[in-house]
Amino acid sequence: MYIPARIAKTYQASVKVKIYELQVEEFEPPTPGQFVMMWIPRVGEIPLSIAYYREGMIKLAIAKRGKVTTYIHEKLKEGDRVYLRGPYGRGFTLPRTSSEFLVVGGGTGSAPLYYLARIGVSKGAQCDALLGFETEKHLFFINEFKKICRNVYVVTENGGAGAKGLPTHYLANLLAAHNYETVYTCGPEMLLLEVLKICDAVGVRVEASLERLMKCAVGVCGACVLDPLGLRVCKDGPVFSSEVLRKISDLGKWWRDFDGRKIRLA
Ligand SMILES: Cc1cc2nc3c(=O)[nH]c(=O)nc-3n(C[C@H](O)[C@H](O)[C@H](O)COP(=O)(O)OP(=O)(O)OC[C@H]3O[C@@H](n4cnc5c(N)ncnc54)[C@H](O)[C@@H]3O)c2cc1C
Ligand code: FES
Repeated sequence: MYIPARIAKTYQASVKVKIYELQVEEFEPPTPGQFVMMWIPRVGEIPLSIAYYREGMIKLAIAKRGKVTTYIHEKLKEGDRVYLRGPYGRGFTLPRTSSEFLVVGGGTGSAPLYYLARIGVSKGAQCDALLGFETEKHLFFINEFKKICRNVYVVTENGGAGAKGLPTHYLANLLAAHNYETVYTCGPEMLLLEVLKICDAVGVRVEASLERLMKCAVGVCGACVLDPLGLRVCKDGPVFSSEVLRKISDLGKWWRDFDGRKIRLA
């Protein structure tokens, strides 16, 4: 069932990402890490992580990529209506009160991690954020993270803002200096794999949010199935823990196209 949503506010947050605040009625409160399917009639439907939620309002951070996201960026304005299904999937396990946790984001992967950080901190946990972007022009949500996190470490590939390189170059040092109960991560799959490897080496638990092409989003069509366990990203994920991630042979290697055929990850 589709829920109508009105764009209450939208603004450009970085060279690539626009933020959309959608006014919704009767939306089931989502847990951080869950996603919605956003349908725009005559254009298409895409999966998007929830970047924040409070009663009556859903925040989304949308990067301009292909057909649908370009339409959203270029044509949709405040007051326009879109349609949502969800919230779908299994989100992150919420950090325990008084625990320390780290979020490691790559690009738009920071969006669901922001919602997690807000909820985790509001429940009494302490959050550090390690956020990677292409350049200084791609940064978004940094001030929002700074308002709630103990430490925010920014990394850019060109060194234009924060430290130079990839978030994973700095992860081992942070793990050695802090007592994180869990590292939560979302972003390009190579980043997730590297985070898992570094955390496994020192016995720190990981939860990672994966992305796959989605059609039904409710576990029926098989478009998002991961080998060899047959897990569906839309229903059994998109968030998976270390124990499961280690067993997914597709991770970092294979996607499926809309016909279910396996395609090599670029
Ligand atoms: C669980 C989940 C959460 C996501 N959260 C975000 C987010 O918070 N912000 C964000 O910017 N992006 C997010 N994405 C990626 C986003 O869905 C794609 O960037 C978007 O679907 C691309 O659509 P497009 O038409 O612009 O691109 P095109 O390359 O033209 O896409 C072709 C078509 O593929 C379909 N499609 C379905 N699923 C996907 C997918 N996973 N990736 C690409 N295409 C898909 C859509 O119908 C799309 O129109 C998320 C993806 C998943 C699976
Ligand atoms: S999108 Fe249909 S099973 Fe996941």
